[in-house]
Amino acid sequence: MPLLEVHDVISGYGSTDVLHGVSISVERDEIVTIIGPNGAGKSTLFKTIMGYLIPRSGKIIFSEEEVTQLKPNQKVVKGIAYVPQLDNTFPSLTIRENLEMGGFSKEREALQQGIETAYSIFPILNDRRNQRARTLSGGQRQMLAMSMALMTEPALLLLDEPSAGLAPKLDEEVFNQIKSLHARGIAILIIEQDAHRSLGISDRGYVLAMGQNHFDGSADTILNDPQIKEAFLGG
Ligand SMILES: Nc1ncnc2c1ncn2[C@@H]1O[C@H](COP(=O)(O)OP(=O)(O)OP(=O)(O)O)[C@@H](O)[C@H]1O
Ligand SMILES: [Mg+2]
Repeated sequence: MPLLEVHDVISGYGSTDVLHGVSISVERDEIVTIIGPNGAGKSTLFKTIMGYLIPRSGKIIFSEEEVTQLKPNQKVVKGIAYVPQLDNTFPSLTIRENLEMGGFSKEREALQQGIETAYSIFPILNDRRNQRARTLSGGQRQMLAMSMALMTEPALLLLDEPSAGLAPKLDEEVFNQIKSLHARGIAILIIEQDAHRSLGISDRGYVLAMGQNHFDGSADTILNDPQIKEAFLGG
């Protein structure tokens, strides 16, 4: 059984449907990338998986349990963590305070343990722990956002455009870090504009267009498909 299964989900905002029957899955040991044009519904899919939007129809199964109707806090308890595309840190709080927010539901000792783990994965966060998050560079902010999500010890991490706005060198660093999180046993689902880099570390990928599944396959298949290259990967 896959870790996450999204079955034929219809979802959107108010009475407007954005996803018109989307299906995806993620295995426990996978990195999976979702690509697709702006407005395709990629972020809407993540908001639906996380429970910020409740599907109008379809099913979401996580760890062999139906979670379609659960709220975000309940999804977190089940083991799903989410790094949003925008506003994913608290700029006026320090790095340490941001990590405390990420682990707010934890007991004191477990919280401290989680923060120490974050510092060991991302030493720069330890160096800057008493500085406000707004002083971080784009890449460092992304590391902080991922660390906040990791505070809940997820089995599945949803990353919405982790490389957005990063210089190419930092971009590479962020993807290396994603790989190392995966090596710690976390399944990862990534939405990404930098399809080459993201598919480069992924097992499989999905192409979403206009709120529907357009294509899926191994990362290599997607990277080498002439029609997808032409339409979605900039030729
Ligand atoms: N809060 C909202 N209320 C109403 N409509 C929304 C809301 N957020 C997004 N939409 C609409 O839903 C559609 C899909 O948006 P979504 O953000 O999921 O796309 P995306 O694939 O993530 O795009 P991008 O690559 O630009 O991030 C768009 O038409 C968008 O205008
Ligand atoms: Mg988006």
